Amino acid sequence: MARLLKPTDQNLRFLREFLLSGGVAALPTETVYGLAANAMNPEACQKVFDIKNRPSLDPLICHVPGFSGIETYCDTNSAAEILCPAFWPGPLTIVLKKKPIIPDIVTAGLDSVAVRSPSHPDFRRLMADCPFPIAAPSANPFSYISPTRADHVNVNLGEKIEYILDGGPCSLGVESTIIDARDPRRPKVLRYGALPLEDIENALGCHIEVPAPTSKSFQIAPGSLPKHYSPRIPVELRVEPVSEKELQEPDSKVAYLLLRKPNHETTSNIHWLSETGNLDEIAKRLYAKLREVDTKEYEKIVAEETQELGLGQAINDRLRRASHL
Ligand code: TXA
Ligand code: MG
Repeated sequence: MARLLKPTDQNLRFLREFLLSGGVAALPTETVYGLAANAMNPEACQKVFDIKNRPSLDPLICHVPGFSGIETYCDTNSAAEILCPAFWPGPLTIVLKKKPIIPDIVTAGLDSVAVRSPSHPDFRRLMADCPFPIAAPSANPFSYISPTRADHVNVNLGEKIEYILDGGPCSLGVESTIIDARDPRRPKVLRYGALPLEDIENALGCHIEVPAPTSKSFQIAPGSLPKHYSPRIPVELRVEPVSEKELQEPDSKVAYLLLRKPNHETTSNIHWLSETGNLDEIAKRLYAKLREVDTKEYEKIVAEETQELGLGQAINDRLRRASHL
């Protein structure tokens, strides 16, 4: 098992040195836990791919302290000048044209790089004195559910890494929204995420394109693979809420994942993601709940889709990928 480190000044100093010298450690962000390496060190980045069992075609996000200084790593433009100051630190990843200083392994050979400035206070303290950007994919085995707590990382990767910085449960619970802003007049969403698209459109004052999902999209954003974020057992998605009749006589081999708590007593296989249907709460609890039911003896998960608005787009996106066969 990996050692869980508390975010003391001493531990943060230690982890910074550990990363600088080529180590790989799990760090908390406000979205999900990341598996972090010095982005300037190709060997350290290779370890990240190996630990996750991640295809080398799937590029890594570079985490930076803020907008100031990113021109060292990528070309900026008018869209970045609006979006980064507006939403950083926070759950926005922006794809821009890469500069040669970023090693090819980080970007899977693409001529673009994904950059993000996370808001988690412990990540920020660690990054503050870092002389390098931090490459960090979600700290889960490729295609499994992302971790939103330190113990999730330990369950999946504890045998493969030495340290996890324990920054508590992630406050948002789904990954960052990824915007391809290489053409500032035609920004595209590559992944729905914790920052609602409407907020980004309002800031830019333009519509954001949603590229059609094609097999080529693996080259654009491999997180857009149809099957991703998936539990071990199958997930059946329901557009309509689970009926009262089914709640009264549920199938005992099925874990039901409701969006809100029912207003009556239920059997133990009825689970809910929020008390009242609040989208922030649903997003925050989604992955932990999927993991919880995935470890029990159920044969299937039945989950309800939410409204396709705001954070609901990211929640539905993750549920659909989890349900993809
Ligand atoms: O919230 C997050 O973004 C978390 C935390 C740890 O920061 N990170 C995360 O990383 O979700 P990961 O590797 O699990 O997902 C990153 C996605 C992948 O689908 C990858 O293909 C895409 O970002 N990506 C990275 N670089 C890219 C690039 N240059 N062009 C297009 N997509 C890129
Ligand atoms: Mg991931």
